[in-house]
Amino acid sequence: MIREVLRMGDARLLRRAAPVEQFDTPALHALLADMRDTMHRLNGVGLAAPQIGVSLRVAIFGFERSSRYPEAESVPDTVLINPELTILSADCVDGWEGCLSVPGLRGQVPRYRLLHYAGFDEFGKRVERTAGGFHARVVQHECDHLDGVLYPMRMNDLSRLAFVDVPDGVSE
Ligand code: NI
Repeated sequence: MIREVLRMGDARLLRRAAPVEQFDTPALHALLADMRDTMHRLNGVGLAAPQIGVSLRVAIFGFERSSRYPEAESVPDTVLINPELTILSADCVDGWEGCLSVPGLRGQVPRYRLLHYAGFDEFGKRVERTAGGFHARVVQHECDHLDGVLYPMRMNDLSRLAFVDVPDGVSE
């Protein structure tokens, strides 16, 4: 079922979400089905449970090709529950991001270039990967949602916050 995505300004997006304690339950599978339906309908590349008002540490992400990020390399379809990130390089890179909770805008956000992430899928199976580039960016963005952080809160130059549909803006 497609769910309403909360937008910036809603206090529920600023909460720290709680860990999932039981895997492979009907409720968890139903949540993931709703998250997938919602993300695909809105052409998102990721979605976190708090964005649909569910304060649990559950995120999904992944795409083969994205109309929102035409130049981005593909990211494997992933369910990531109770994630733990380990930053592998102190290097940060600036890149453009959007968010389904901040519709119509994009911003240039510094993110760590390389990290390792670990967590569980909906069946409780361990998920572990090392990721760089756009993949690492997406993971950081989605995990931030679980801690109540939206990408504008990570920006250090608000002159790099722009409407998506303004041509020849500040994107280069
Ligand atoms: Ni987002």
